[in-house]
Amino acid sequence: MQDDREKKKTHFDDEAEVYDDYIAKIVPSYHEMLEALVNAIPFGLAKEIKILDLGCGTGAVTRKLKERYARAHVTCLDAAENMLAVAKERLSDVGGISYVSGDFHDLEISGEYDAIVSALALHHIQTDEEKKQNYRYIYSALKQGGVFYNADVVAAPNDYLQNLYREQWKEFMRRHVSEEQIENEWLPRHDKQDHPAPLENHIAWLRQAGFIEIDIIWKYIKGAVFGGVRP
Ligand SMILES: C[S@@+](CC[C@H](N)C(=O)[O-])C[C@H]1O[C@@H](n2cnc3c(N)ncnc32)[C@H](O)[C@@H]1O
Repeated sequence: MQDDREKKKTHFDDEAEVYDDYIAKIVPSYHEMLEALVNAIPFGLAKEIKILDLGCGTGAVTRKLKERYARAHVTCLDAAENMLAVAKERLSDVGGISYVSGDFHDLEISGEYDAIVSALALHHIQTDEEKKQNYRYIYSALKQGGVFYNADVVAAPNDYLQNLYREQWKEFMRRHVSEEQIENEWLPRHDKQDHPAPLENHIAWLRQAGFIEIDIIWKYIKGAVFGGVRP
């Protein structure tokens, strides 16, 4: 397990400089998905809330959070040092941000955050047990009344939809990258490195962790934004 995590870290470390150039070309409606994530946070704009961005990468979600919640303090957590370094550089004009090098498998924080968000990161957790544990960690890390929303890749619930979504995803990528890149780079990489679970499992795991008012607030092909509230 540790070896796989190390590989993942290295792979994102290696592509930190080019990440922003490709992500919106291979993830359908990437910016719209992040917008939906940020819109789900229910607190007043003037409040000094504490937010954790899990797997912050180069900081795209944190930038949107700070544009909307100027008084928020955002903690950017990522396992890849180079991704964090790019985030720091890109967000150097924005205050109220801490950068933490860490792994979300080791997230042991208690009652600290008003909101925890994540984009395109938690599907890297490999097993269902670890995914459930992660939701328990997230629940514990929230204050009462805090919210968690995840914008991520999810698995289709059956083969028909799986094939349909894959074709729709390929169609989207064809607008931006070559067929050769799709077949030899993006699809194999997704099949090997990503571990999406069906949305209905996520909903059940969130409920088991204690979340209430769970909702799917956005969905497009295999991307979804969903989450709930810690009572
Ligand atoms: C596809 S990027 C998403 C970045 C950003 N959230 C965005 O929306 O553009 C996934 C990020 O999750 C991080 N990541 C993957 N596994 C992780 C783990 N176990 N702990 C912390 N970060 C992890 C990677 O280093 C990478 O920066």
